[in-house]
Amino acid sequence: MTDAPLAPGSTIGILGGGQLGRMLSLAASRLGFDVVILDPEDNSPAGRVSRGQIVAAYDDPVALNVFGRVCDVVTFEFENVPASSMERLAEAGARVAPGPVALAVAQDRVDEKTFLNGVGATTVDFVPVETLNDLTAAIETLGCPALLKTRREGYDGKGQVWIKSPKDAAKAFEAIGGRPAILEARADFVRELSIIAARGRDGATAIYPLGENKHAGGVLRTTVAPAEVDVKTERRARAIARAVLDGLDYVGVIGIELFDLGSGKLLVNEIAPRVHNTGHWTQDGCVCDQFEQHIRAVAGWPLGPTAPHARVEMQNLLGDEVDQWAKLAGKADVRLHLYGKAEARPGRKMAHVNKVRPL
Ligand SMILES: Nc1ncnc2c1ncn2[C@@H]1O[C@H](COP(=O)(O)OP(=O)(O)O)[C@@H](O)[C@H]1O
Ligand SMILES: [Mg+2]
Repeated sequence: MTDAPLAPGSTIGILGGGQLGRMLSLAASRLGFDVVILDPEDNSPAGRVSRGQIVAAYDDPVALNVFGRVCDVVTFEFENVPASSMERLAEAGARVAPGPVALAVAQDRVDEKTFLNGVGATTVDFVPVETLNDLTAAIETLGCPALLKTRREGYDGKGQVWIKSPKDAAKAFEAIGGRPAILEARADFVRELSIIAARGRDGATAIYPLGENKHAGGVLRTTVAPAEVDVKTERRARAIARAVLDGLDYVGVIGIELFDLGSGKLLVNEIAPRVHNTGHWTQDGCVCDQFEQHIRAVAGWPLGPTAPHARVEMQNLLGDEVDQWAKLAGKADVRLHLYGKAEARPGRKMAHVNKVRPL
């Protein structure tokens, strides 16, 4: 396979048809690419703004063969795509970015933390849990409170239970379906930060300023960026980002969630091998946003600039909060990003707004 940058007119495939895929597709279109989406749900938010969509399961071998043949490069917006699907796509002739290793590491909370600690990025203390006996022992090791999470497939705080006392063990294990899990010590953070970073095919990196995030019930509500952090914290976060990107031989944009323990001490909470909700501020705060940056990286283009030109407060609109769209559209300092989802189920991410202020 040649290493020349992908020419405009080439086809980029995206596994997953949600809002992240939609915004990636829009960015790719602006750079002259065609986009094809693979998602099991017909008429997906991303499919509706793309050249086409293949409606099939992420592990459908026939669909993956077709997808791999029509796409010059395949990426994903959803990290629970089976790693075996990525291998099949590569066999069908598509370049795949980020690679299967990064995907596999980020899919399993134990592998993820083990990898992070291995590249010098500190995490909370943790213990893998397979059985109720393991959990009881893990609680003794880590103490309470501690957070029990499924190893795989959790998102937006799903598959997580706080354990406040050792007698909660059986109930908590049942609540997560008795699945393979991880018990995490509680991080006593003063705030949550994240850093969005990219690595190109040539190993060059581009790192955005930190964002400060507020969650409610495990779901992101707001990001303010650039976050007000001291030089030491910024430097440490950037070093973590570079270590993670190089350690995974990564190509594309990654989101790294951090716990700020104060006085410049950072722990990594988790990594997301894709564009990230806490990076949406870049759409209105940077010349090259995270979506264009990801497309540039996977297409082998030079990475774009990451310097901010505005201070942005990003707010997610969940469920029927999206009904405020008309009022928000009338505000001069607000940019509205709607995902085109028909049904505003409670808690569902429907849109976000970027409130833009001068730096
Ligand atoms: N070990 C921990 N200590 C304290 N808070 C935590 C811990 N792990 C997660 N949280 C809180 O829960 C949120 C969601 O957890 P996270 O691991 O990021 O799961 P998800 O994959 O659902 O985003 C975090 O943003 C943070 O607010
Ligand atoms: Mg998270």
